[in-house]
Amino acid sequence: MDEHVGFTAMKDGTREEYELLARLEKPYLSLTADRVLEELKRASEATLEGYKITRLEHGLQSGTRALRDGADLDWVVGALLHDIGDGLAPQNHDKMSAEVIRPFVRWDVAWTVEHHGIFQMLYYGHHYGWDQNAREQFRHHPVFNNCAEFCERWDQSSFDPDYPIEPIDTFEPMVKEVFSRKAYDPEIIQEGFVSSLTVNP
Ligand SMILES: [Fe+2]
Ligand SMILES: [Fe+2]
Repeated sequence: MDEHVGFTAMKDGTREEYELLARLEKPYLSLTADRVLEELKRASEATLEGYKITRLEHGLQSGTRALRDGADLDWVVGALLHDIGDGLAPQNHDKMSAEVIRPFVRWDVAWTVEHHGIFQMLYYGHHYGWDQNAREQFRHHPVFNNCAEFCERWDQSSFDPDYPIEPIDTFEPMVKEVFSRKAYDPEIIQEGFVSSLTVNP
């Protein structure tokens, strides 16, 4: 059980030691989905200060709306986890959230999560004297319309305490399925392919 390497500086490690580390890391990697779900649940303690719902409820509401719109697995998990980075990186949470899911979801979903912060400014930026159209810098990006639709349908709308959300149990198998994929599998990532958000527009 107590297997460990002999080196104290990485540059001194042998191939056998690095093979040991790779083997020991496997069970840890396989539990990524569980850690992500734990982080999501933690978001029920920290409220969205001043909003009517918690961060967990906001994620569940986004995910539920995506689900009910007939979105596919990648979009539902993207919606559920689009603010997962808020706990550690509130000011750049969009990028942080995108990095959490990027190895396992389609390229257009990761791009959308990465940029949702600037797209969301359309709805409130003017109240702070910011450029609410800052998203226009991405106008010609192939995922622009998806990101705009994502924000309109599933993010900006999902602060309603009366909206009937699905429980986290509904999403657990989906998160586990996505995080059990091979990381950076080109067949999953499909760089350059722009999918439809929903089958029930
Ligand atoms: Fe956000
Ligand atoms: Fe959000």
